[in-house]
Amino acid sequence: MIKTVRKNTKGLSGEIVIPADKSVSHRAVMLLSLAKGTAYVRNFSSGADCKSTLELYQKLGVEINYVDEKILKITSNGKLFNSNTTEPLYCGNSGTTMRLTCGVLAGQKFNSILIGDESLTRRPMKRIIEPLSLMGAKINSNEFHAPLSIRGSNLYGIDYHSAISSAQVKSSIILAGLSAQGKTTYTEPFQSRNHTELMLKYLGAEINTHENSTEIIHSKLEAKDIEVVGDISSASFFIVGGLVVPNSNFIIRNVGINPTRTGIIDVVQRMSGQIELMNKREIGGETVADIRVIYSENLKSCTISGNDIPRLIDELPIIAVLATQAEGKTIIKDAQDLRNKEADRIKCLVSELKKIGAEIEEIPDGFVIYGKTQLKGNVSVESFHDHRLAMSFYVAGLISEKEIAINNFEWTNISFPEFEQLFYKINA
Ligand code: S3P
Repeated sequence: MIKTVRKNTKGLSGEIVIPADKSVSHRAVMLLSLAKGTAYVRNFSSGADCKSTLELYQKLGVEINYVDEKILKITSNGKLFNSNTTEPLYCGNSGTTMRLTCGVLAGQKFNSILIGDESLTRRPMKRIIEPLSLMGAKINSNEFHAPLSIRGSNLYGIDYHSAISSAQVKSSIILAGLSAQGKTTYTEPFQSRNHTELMLKYLGAEINTHENSTEIIHSKLEAKDIEVVGDISSASFFIVGGLVVPNSNFIIRNVGINPTRTGIIDVVQRMSGQIELMNKREIGGETVADIRVIYSENLKSCTISGNDIPRLIDELPIIAVLATQAEGKTIIKDAQDLRNKEADRIKCLVSELKKIGAEIEEIPDGFVIYGKTQLKGNVSVESFHDHRLAMSFYVAGLISEKEIAINNFEWTNISFPEFEQLFYKINA
């Protein structure tokens, strides 16, 4: 589907409620599938990625039903089974589904095969296969890419120091540690999102966390209801939209502000963007807030690197759009893993933003943006079947002189089917 976006001249106003966090929704299905009993997940994500997880765990024998559009009832006896070990389990476009589930399946008493779509098949799996193999997992792959053929085995705890800061890798090892003999310790260079750890604690697992390191021992989980907070990664498109579209002033409600995810808020503050966090409250071990965003004429450039990166990895494409409206040189580095996302987000972002009129340069581990630029538009750009690139270009279209057309825009459904409807709600 081609989406045409025109400049917004009125400003964005009113308020929206941001839909459910994708990372938390995936984990709610996975962990409640491993817990004995019945529990409800409230405010489950409507994105295609989370549906991939839901359908996969149904195939593993867990009773998962929609009570209504956003509420799931999950009943499990705490054990998974695979009735057809030769039929592959499909993970769609979702790296989180494949990597975390591989950790879950490695220690089961049955065999299984994980497959994904074309983009997921291109994504690196060595990062999980290596540590899981050290734990005793038997995984065959196509040169460290899917399909992953997993022979259920006895696992043993390890003390693993990862070279990268990735929540998917960390969670895969922690979930394998849940069924392993002995203690598993996982250490990463900078702390990545900790939703798995928080949810495991909430469901009664024996898990200890100290900044960049997590210890887990074999534990049984208790089924307990989970309410999913709003997704700060989805909110980031609205945060940037409000900061760059003149005359904007609106409220985004129910945004998860777990400190391992709020790099975007720190960066906006460093760039002198006007945002205000209000009404902070706790929901099931996670903190949420309402965020007011106001158009900010005097944005300044900044450098984003090191331990900033895991706290805003998914927001870097939309931060690039923000940086086109900031005075000076914005440098984003240490983000080479962006090349391993649904698309090569460094190469694809730079090529398409250049077409729109941004002054942006590719570097091996990120990009450099020179602002402030009036984006020109009058061009057609490619989403590269990447949801976050499609949504970032949409926001760029709201401030471009002439309209832009975005090819394959429907890929926004991967994480955020409500995206455009919510922009309409605030006058886009
Ligand atoms: C995710 C972790 C991040 C992120 C992805 C979701 C998760 O990936 O980019 O969208 O839910 O654990 P990496 O762990 O590969 O950085």
